[in-house]
Amino acid sequence: MNLRHQTILLTGGTSGLGYEFAAQLLALGNTVLLTGRDPAKLAQVRQQLPGVHTLQSDVSDPAAIAQLYEQVTAQFPQLSILINNAGQMRKLDLLASAQQVPELTRELDVNLAGPMRMVQQFLPHLLRQPAAAILNVTSGLALTPYPLAPVYGASKAGLRAYTKALRVQLQGTPVQVFELVAPAAKTPLSTPFAGDVAEKDLMAPRPLIAQTLRAMQTNQWEVYPGLAKMLRLLSRVAPDLLLRQLSKGVRESLARR
Ligand SMILES: NC(=O)c1ccc[n+]([C@@H]2O[C@H](COP(=O)([O-])OP(=O)(O)OC[C@H]3O[C@@H](n4cnc5c(N)ncnc54)[C@H](OP(=O)(O)O)[C@@H]3O)[C@@H](O)[C@H]2O)c1
Repeated sequence: MNLRHQTILLTGGTSGLGYEFAAQLLALGNTVLLTGRDPAKLAQVRQQLPGVHTLQSDVSDPAAIAQLYEQVTAQFPQLSILINNAGQMRKLDLLASAQQVPELTRELDVNLAGPMRMVQQFLPHLLRQPAAAILNVTSGLALTPYPLAPVYGASKAGLRAYTKALRVQLQGTPVQVFELVAPAAKTPLSTPFAGDVAEKDLMAPRPLIAQTLRAMQTNQWEVYPGLAKMLRLLSRVAPDLLLRQLSKGVRESLARR
């Protein structure tokens, strides 16, 4: 996939991995349009990354996606790459009462239904381009259950299954489908998990995204940077052992919240 001089729409580009995607894609000479919900964060990114285009849009809101589509395709008809990166992750205690767990399915709405709706909305446009791509950002936690964040794990496992199915259905079309199976990374999303994941195991966004873009440029459909590669191996050869490891200290961590 050529990643130079393309027009790219990136969800959740105001911090963490999304910000790094935007910075590196701009440096490659692309036109980058990024979304987020918070206008203050969008304004800050416009200052930090000259040339970037920002749009306020919530991926969990179908009406906002329809509006985004109208705006983007009218202003940037050459749009050819969609990166579904926006995501949220919470520790969730399933023993808590319904009132203590507001919006139980929030991660499903943002991390799973969001990308599905984005693809459904933008796919006809992408299919009209000579060459196009969709990149869905899943997680090493798509490969194994994660008891501390059960809805997050379900959302990413679902997104991985959907992404593989999408790739099969789009065979023979101009749209290539990529998946970034991201390892734990040093971003605001992982901050609440500081006591659960060792600092040394958090990958820095810069090399993580650089590796992802290199892989896309050589048409590797699935990218496993850093420790995601090891998680992939463990999830295949010793899935029960992996789950036992990830189950350690769950009650204590939930109590610490
Ligand atoms: N960091 C990790 O350890 C890790 C590991 C594996 C996978 N991932 C995945 O990598 C992706 C990026 O995560 P990150 O670590 O970079 O997180 P982050 O720093 O918290 O950034 C998340 C981005 O998504 C946006 N966002 C959140 N909810 C949104 C919504 N409903 N609609 C539109 N934008 C929304 C946020 O901006 P607003 O809040 O302003 O909307 C922000 O720009 C996520 O899909 C995450 O699941 C992260």
